[in-house]
Amino acid sequence: MAHMRDNQIQMPDASEKRYQLHTESLNAIAMAITAESDLEKVFQVIVDAARTLVNANAAIIYHVSDDLTSLKSAAFSYQDPSDHRHPGNGHFMIPLGHGLISDIYFGGVPVRLSDYPAYPRRAKIPTPHVAISKLIGVPLLDRSGRSIGLLMASDKGDGSDFTDEDEKIFLSLARQGGIAVENARLYRELMDSKSNLEAQVAARTAELERKNLELQNANRLKSEFLAKMSHELRTPLNSIIGFSDMLLNQFYGPLNDQQQDGLERVLRNGKHLLALINDVLDISRIEASKMPVRVEACVPRDILMQVLFAVEPLARKKGHVLIHDLEGSPPMVKSDPTKIRQIILNLLTNAMNFTDRGEVRLVSRRVADRWEISISDTGIGIAPEDLTRIFEEFYQVDSSTTRKVGGTGLGLPICLRMARLLGGQLSAESTPGEGSVFTVVLPLESRAPEFD
Ligand SMILES: Nc1ncnc2c1ncn2[C@@H]1O[C@H](COP(=O)(O)OP(=O)(O)O)[C@@H](O)[C@H]1O
Ligand SMILES: [Mg+2]
Repeated sequence: MAHMRDNQIQMPDASEKRYQLHTESLNAIAMAITAESDLEKVFQVIVDAARTLVNANAAIIYHVSDDLTSLKSAAFSYQDPSDHRHPGNGHFMIPLGHGLISDIYFGGVPVRLSDYPAYPRRAKIPTPHVAISKLIGVPLLDRSGRSIGLLMASDKGDGSDFTDEDEKIFLSLARQGGIAVENARLYRELMDSKSNLEAQVAARTAELERKNLELQNANRLKSEFLAKMSHELRTPLNSIIGFSDMLLNQFYGPLNDQQQDGLERVLRNGKHLLALINDVLDISRIEASKMPVRVEACVPRDILMQVLFAVEPLARKKGHVLIHDLEGSPPMVKSDPTKIRQIILNLLTNAMNFTDRGEVRLVSRRVADRWEISISDTGIGIAPEDLTRIFEEFYQVDSSTTRKVGGTGLGLPICLRMARLLGGQLSAESTPGEGSVFTVVLPLESRAPEFD
């Protein structure tokens, strides 16, 4: 017997089926609420579910207007689609005041009628074109229990009255409606604040971009001005240097000691000024992206030997031991030899200038796919707090006028910029009192930067 019963198909009875339908509808509504930001679509799912679940001919949802003076039809559902005939064939408004709809809205409790035409406070609008006899209506409440609309249905298919259970279903659907309204409001607020925020961010970004462009432009103009100025200054200065040199060499006749002394000062200061102008010109050309980079195949050893040859007299004069180790150099690189010479010359000159006596060492080697050149000295060294600052324009550790070594304070900033221009880097390490090491690392193949 047990076997028999197991194989029997259990037909769900009507209420079980309805319960299942109800649960499914609630799930569908919950999904619509989370998936749809469009309130009308959620209302449509609710109103369809309401009508089907209680087997009514028609169902409608009203939603209160923003100014709280009327109720607006928000969604309809009809058993027979031809019943859908409303003023204007679309949505309509019912002013809040007298009538069943207002009563449910203000009353805040469910209403069931078995004889609608007999309702004493019946309003004339809107006049349905289909005679209505039985009605059920429940208010839509928001979270705080305030009425925000209502859900109504008219006439069951079998002509019977709306039941307690119908009312329960309507109440649960109305609760969902309330949640949907709340949700839509929150969503709208979120979107508003989001677009507000986006607008603000966009405005700020545009402002920053404009400022940035202005600054870039100003900086470029400054650099262009400096480049032009320094160039214009060099011409007369070269003539001053040239003529004082000729005078000093007594080309125009003999000089007394005072004249000699004065002219020596003119020449020294003229040369210093020329160095300064040349450095300013270099810096501003790099800054204005006007520094040409000429990449060619070159032999590192040759470049470095030329520089060593140039500083040889200074080393001899200062009594330095100049050591070089170029054995590990890459045999060939693609780079701008003029810039490399300028960088190494600067670093070697510094090493000798800031070393009283001792040795200056130049080591060149290939490390992985890079070319590394280091210049070390046994000089005064640089304190940690000065180590990064020496790459700033015009920064000199000892800037007093009594300092022994002349210089512009632009050498290192130029070296750093040039190394970067070639795709490399320049760094420094130092121990005060013991010495410093400056290291240039360059790619084996530099690419000429693109200028606009
Ligand atoms: N090898 C070095 N040893 C000690 N100090 C150094 C060395 N190289 C540079 N400096 C410090 O860094 C400063 C900036 O160098 P640089 O830009 O070449 O300018 P300048 O040589 O014209 O003073 C120098 O004035 C000096 O104080
Ligand atoms: Mg220098």
